[in-house]
Amino acid sequence: MNTIKLNTDYLQHFVDSKELAGIYEETLRAKQTLLAKTGKGNDFLGWIDLPENLSPEIISNIKADVERLRHRARLFVVIGIGGSYLGARAVIEALQSEFAAMQPDGTYPYIVYAGHTLSEDYYSQLLQTLDSHDYAVAVISKSGTTTEPAVACRIIKAHLEKKYGAEEAAQRIIAITDAHRGALHDIAQQEGYRTYVIPDNVGGRFSVLTPVGLLPIAMAGYNIDQILQGARDMRKLCIDGDSFDNNPALLYSAIRNLLYRKGYKVEILENFVPQLKYISEWWKQLYGESEGKEGKGILPHSLSFTTDLHSMGQYVQEGERLMFETVLSVEHPHSQVEIPSDQKNLDGINYLLGKSLTEINRNAELGTILAHNDGGVPVLRILLPTIDEYLLGQLIYFFEFACGISGYTLGVNPFDQPGVEAYKKNMFRLLGKPGYTN
Ligand code: PA5
Repeated sequence: MNTIKLNTDYLQHFVDSKELAGIYEETLRAKQTLLAKTGKGNDFLGWIDLPENLSPEIISNIKADVERLRHRARLFVVIGIGGSYLGARAVIEALQSEFAAMQPDGTYPYIVYAGHTLSEDYYSQLLQTLDSHDYAVAVISKSGTTTEPAVACRIIKAHLEKKYGAEEAAQRIIAITDAHRGALHDIAQQEGYRTYVIPDNVGGRFSVLTPVGLLPIAMAGYNIDQILQGARDMRKLCIDGDSFDNNPALLYSAIRNLLYRKGYKVEILENFVPQLKYISEWWKQLYGESEGKEGKGILPHSLSFTTDLHSMGQYVQEGERLMFETVLSVEHPHSQVEIPSDQKNLDGINYLLGKSLTEINRNAELGTILAHNDGGVPVLRILLPTIDEYLLGQLIYFFEFACGISGYTLGVNPFDQPGVEAYKKNMFRLLGKPGYTN
């Protein structure tokens, strides 16, 4: 099967088989608790069965909306923050050209983002851009009351209505929110927006395989059936596999907890291809919000190599020994670029002739792993045969399932996020929101 794999070759000096065997029962129990739905946060486990349970009607509605809007919109604005934004962006940026924004009009809209910042300049620049392009919008918020997307929605809705008139604007907005509650739900009802529901039992950061992620991904022109197929195949492995050999999620969560207990408190997710940068951003939210509580939890960090070898590489090699690395290692690129030969060889790189850039990059990866290992950094590798929808579906489900097991092994509720409220209370009080003033 074309599948992602976990490689533990560069962990050997840091974790031995006895230690791994020692944590096996605990990890398996965590997995069983997850599946039996008897652990903390068990009312938020709808994501486990999403790849199987998502109704075909939802998929065909998404496709119909894409067909309806893609010829009318050069840009598609995705309004959302946290789990209502990062999953879609992670997949889209992994699949699209780095230079997609500069390419002539394609057959699908180019996705731009809003609601993830309160920067005035950002909105001013976005509105200027929207002045000169046809566009449509998805507003995504599970609670329907989050300030950042609510502000963005108000600003962009006003712009859209001015540009197209209220009736046409309403045709160009899709709301993705709770079935019954929240300001966004009420606005969508009143204005007659097309609406998708975020299931009650799926939390924000586990929602990429609902319309939250699937609608923007499909709007960008990518194959959501393949994403779901990848997730389905990985789900089967994660649910059926009870050993470290046949269940990568079990192994990954065991290793992270073992390393954490040994004092490796930071996990750096690394890539050697820049299009995976937002996979790391999505992963940081998934693990940071799920595990960082009760004074516990691995700090998730990310780096893009070889770029960051020239900035953070020094710290990883010789700084305080508190991190382990998980490398997203991509085997095959989609295209090739030849290094031209040059008889003069003034730059001294003729020794690379005949080697592909991927081969050079692979050696950079191996050289880095060996150096970091020598510097006392445990390295885990996640091997991706290539980057495509199917494998991204696998990767998403793998990380989600492992997060559930890992959080239970750590002893926290991986499905709540009480800490996210603290800044909001202060912000509301400072801004004078009714009910929050002293
Ligand atoms: O994972 C989470 O639950 C959060 O990151 C939310 O997704 C984020 O706070 C946005 O919330 P909402 O979708 O309610 O606007």
